[in-house]
Amino acid sequence: MKPYVLAGFQMIGLNGMIGASWLDPDDTSVAFTDLDYWIGIARQLDDAGFDFLFFADSYGFPGLDGEPLAATVREGRSIPQADPVTVVSALAAATRDLGYVVTASTTVEKPAALARRFATLDHFTKGRIGWNIVTGSQGATAASLMGEEVTPHDLRYDKADDYLELCLKLWESSWRTDAVVADRASGVWADPEGVRSISHDGPFHQAKGILNVPPSPQRTPLLVQAGTSGRGCEYAGRNAEVVFVAGGPHEVVARRVQNIRDAAVAAGRPADSITIVAGVMFLVAPTEEEAIAKHERMLSLSSYDGAAAIFAGNTGVDLLQFDQDAPLPHDLSTELGLSNLQRYLGTAEQPGPLVREIVDDFRRTGLNGSVFVGTPEQVADETEAFVAATGVDGFLVQPNVVPATYDDFIGLLLPELRARGLVRESRADSADPGAPATTLRERLFPGAGAHLPDTHYGAALRWS
Ligand SMILES: Cc1cc2nc3c(=O)[nH]c(=O)nc-3n(C[C@H](O)[C@H](O)[C@H](O)COP(=O)(O)O)c2cc1C
Repeated sequence: MKPYVLAGFQMIGLNGMIGASWLDPDDTSVAFTDLDYWIGIARQLDDAGFDFLFFADSYGFPGLDGEPLAATVREGRSIPQADPVTVVSALAAATRDLGYVVTASTTVEKPAALARRFATLDHFTKGRIGWNIVTGSQGATAASLMGEEVTPHDLRYDKADDYLELCLKLWESSWRTDAVVADRASGVWADPEGVRSISHDGPFHQAKGILNVPPSPQRTPLLVQAGTSGRGCEYAGRNAEVVFVAGGPHEVVARRVQNIRDAAVAAGRPADSITIVAGVMFLVAPTEEEAIAKHERMLSLSSYDGAAAIFAGNTGVDLLQFDQDAPLPHDLSTELGLSNLQRYLGTAEQPGPLVREIVDDFRRTGLNGSVFVGTPEQVADETEAFVAATGVDGFLVQPNVVPATYDDFIGLLLPELRARGLVRESRADSADPGAPATTLRERLFPGAGAHLPDTHYGAALRWS
């Protein structure tokens, strides 16, 4: 069986995926503005054999009508949140194998600016960079910060298709593979015949010119995405190499995974050309009692108002404005985080949960849905059952308390997963500890090469 893909999940801010975990006396994330804090996490994951470190991000913040919600400011949840792109070069220099997947929105800056930044990062990381393509899950506050209107949900994905196509032309098509000769004797740095302007005249984005960065190890960063709506899956099916899904009940995650694989096939790609990774919180301890105590400690820092504020920031729906003892209207919709709203809607025939129950469930599970609690054996069993039932390829390990989340995962759970043959060995324990590092794409798709696979439409753009 294929080893689980393992990744760390972080935002450049305070820990607080479920509740205000930074309040826990053992948590160190108040040091999030200190680069050494991030170097420590990256080195720990690199040494343990994680595949990549993912940085979630948004220009938006939990707010309504452009104003931050008081509960999130007070509890330090999603506010503050600093720019993750800025730490990646430093982390790459401090690590060897670990990849970095960084979130950037298609609604904020021009495609050519983003393409240039990621091409530069692909050089500086030696091909270990991935781009989590988002269209903005906190779209309302992000749009208003940028002085723009919110773009309707499906139109955001149409624009993101066009955006990526333009980026792919710049990455794949502007430079011939062998254009750079860097020959002092002949005085030629690059063959002028090997560098050309791309031209893109799409429905939303236009560009003519070159990518002013020579081809990088992967040329195109690993393409990652996390949309789960119908249009989001269609986007993933056409474009993504890795998809993040939220955790949740097995049958819900299984349906999402199937939708994504079906969308890949509908786009003419093999179903397994997309690696699917679920966001999960792991609370592991030597005994069940200790694990349950950790879970209770985490939930004690998760307030009703804080949960409602995070939900409002994601979906644009302020649950506190509804009758707490009635279900939500079954036809409620949003142009923002549709998936999190749909989690809790019933139908005309079968009403959904009461608003009070929704807030409480969200308070316990947060945006991403699954919390695995127990001894290493229990949690390893839970991962196996989850993978068997859903078909995901691995896990994004979400932080509760840092460094304890990673200490426990690496020190307690990884040996159990390794003993069962579920994860790859760390470099130090591998048969060839001196083997050269690979690109992130080759790490996730061994043997497939550093560049976009031929089954991705972007590969046909390559000038080689
Ligand atoms: C594990 C995971 C990580 C995500 N990270 C981000 C992120 O960093 N920034 C962001 O704006 N949205 C993020 N999202 C939200 C998705 O990009 C997307 O908006 C959401 O899944 C809703 O999809 P839909 O619009 O297709 O319904 C994430 C979603 C998941 C499941």
